[in-house]
Amino acid sequence: MRVVIQENYDKMCKWAASHIAARINAHAADRPFVLGLPTGSSPLGVYAELARMNRAGEVSFGNVVTFNMDEYLGLPREHEQSYWHFMWSNFFDHIDIPRNNVNILDGMAADPEAECARYEAKIAACGGIDLFMGGIGVDGHLAFNEPFTSLTSRTGVRALTTDTRIVNSRFFENDPEKVPAKALSVGIGTVMDAREVLILINGHNKARALAASVEGGVSQKWTCSALQMHPAAIIACDEPACGELTVDTYKYFLDIEREERL
Ligand code: GLP
Repeated sequence: MRVVIQENYDKMCKWAASHIAARINAHAADRPFVLGLPTGSSPLGVYAELARMNRAGEVSFGNVVTFNMDEYLGLPREHEQSYWHFMWSNFFDHIDIPRNNVNILDGMAADPEAECARYEAKIAACGGIDLFMGGIGVDGHLAFNEPFTSLTSRTGVRALTTDTRIVNSRFFENDPEKVPAKALSVGIGTVMDAREVLILINGHNKARALAASVEGGVSQKWTCSALQMHPAAIIACDEPACGELTVDTYKYFLDIEREERL
């Protein structure tokens, strides 16, 4: 696992956007680049920078297919807190991606489990995900895979913990009861199947989760820790998120990444 430590949120986002653009640009044109994407505040700066790079002609999404990580169950696309709405207003409306190349789980599907099975099958039909970008919750959840979700889980319906509903209530008039109780989410196994995984972790409130994911053992208590078993996982983080790492771990990753750059 690589841990790329950047001084602040802005630099973390620029690093992640450049990495993603470089991967897209290096990809053979004979098949689309398949990109997994998250919602949340963590990726906002990455989306803004990728859109800027797109406008500047530094990267194109014309041959990119996307799959989003998750969606609230029971929220229609038009709801301003749906992840569909989030993705279009914060990213897709600002880049040159063909409309049909975007895949987002349908929170209003009549049969949600069938929708999840369809999604997994479509990812496979596209040749699998080349790069899965993600964020994590303060409890280390990846997509909506809360603590104690199986580390081999596939796309399915998930119950949200009270903690997550409280954290996400900032988007629902600060009322946890207004946050949907369930969501559709890719599984930890789905993320682990991606050829590369890039997780953004920023801010003091994620410091405990970052330390547990990097220094703790692989455990379903911190579902993000599964990345330790991935052959090509990167955590891009900012300084505040490093607050709970031991000094040795912190220095190790600064050191090794300095070597990477030489
Ligand atoms: C939600 C999403 C996660 C996301 C997390 C963190 O729970 N389901 O995919 O990583 O929020 O969000 P933020 O980046 O706003 O801290």
